[in-house]
Amino acid sequence: MIPFNKPYLTGKEMHYMYQAIYSGKISGNGMFTQKCHSFFEEKYGFKRALLTTSCTDALEMSAILADIKPGDEVIVPSYTFVSTALAFVRQGAKIVFADSNSQNPNIDVSHIEELITTRTKVIVPVHYAGIACDMDAIMALAGKHNLIVIEDAAQAIDSYYKGKPLGSIGHMATFSFHETKNINSGEGGMLAINDDKFAKRAEIIWEKGTNRSEFFRGEVNKYGWVDIGSSFLPSEIIASYLYAQLENLDLIQAKRKSIWQTYYEGLKTRCNEMGVVLPFIPEYATNNGHMFYLVCTSLEQRTALIQHLKNNNIHSVFHYLSLHKSPYYQNKYEGRMLVNSDRYTDQLVRIPLYYELSTQDIESIITSINTFFN
Ligand SMILES: Cc1ncc(COP(=O)(O)O)c(C=O)c1O
Repeated sequence: MIPFNKPYLTGKEMHYMYQAIYSGKISGNGMFTQKCHSFFEEKYGFKRALLTTSCTDALEMSAILADIKPGDEVIVPSYTFVSTALAFVRQGAKIVFADSNSQNPNIDVSHIEELITTRTKVIVPVHYAGIACDMDAIMALAGKHNLIVIEDAAQAIDSYYKGKPLGSIGHMATFSFHETKNINSGEGGMLAINDDKFAKRAEIIWEKGTNRSEFFRGEVNKYGWVDIGSSFLPSEIIASYLYAQLENLDLIQAKRKSIWQTYYEGLKTRCNEMGVVLPFIPEYATNNGHMFYLVCTSLEQRTALIQHLKNNNIHSVFHYLSLHKSPYYQNKYEGRMLVNSDRYTDQLVRIPLYYELSTQDIESIITSINTFFN
């Protein structure tokens, strides 16, 4: 079976984990955590980067930092992972679900303004498949209505919007280093802060509501409980693993993008003829090779395609299920129909994309899909 995903190992992970373990400091915020923070701040211009144990954790931190209180409204696309909404629900927010646009699963910017009320506090654009949302339009709306923008960049490492790194545009951004992501540490994540006003408090929330980070830097001579927070920081074992991946980022990205391109070239003719939609990348966005997906013409067609691929020993998977129809939220949802979100729920399928995918496997996946559509 060709698996859907295989986490990439650079070969240096064990070496750095060994270093971390024998350095005598394996709890969080040590040398490897600092190295990872510097890497992200220097390469992508984030004002502050803080590693977390998951993107979910980073989203939870962002919800605390945005000072979400019961009754505040947060605009989130319905076609996203549970955590994008859950992090705000835990703070008591009402989620106002937005539809995706018809060309790709990103939030439909043309309908955001009608969702804004006097209680709206945050917009969370999700850069689906690492392809940028229209950030100029979103930031303009946020400026006009005095809202905070938190980019859910879980899939969007090393991708750009009009030349700006994703995660550097909103007031805050969250990334995932789960094993399915381009660079991974098994589970892992990061909060990027771009607005200085959140930076100091972020460090405190990250360290269980204490000012321990200041203490470690020698800025205060004792530390204590100063705010709410949790234990959001990963151990040095995770940070050292991640650092090995970061050193190979360019290599990983080049390989993933080349696999993506081979899929695109191999599938576009037949898929176009059949009305099956391939990823759409607007001219303002780049592709970071995170994911290759197809949008089938119906749920029945997608189910048959997944079965056909399975019969050919290829593991393909569908993705999110509209959150506004989830068992948890459906009774609370009172908005309009979100037809594009439902369409991607039923019709989108993802095919294998990982560093070690061989040329032979890529060719057999392309042939198998084209045969299905013949
Ligand atoms: C858009 C989005 N946000 C958040 C998450 C949560 O990431 P994590 O598993 O690192 O908590 C995911 C998971 O893949 C995701 O796809």
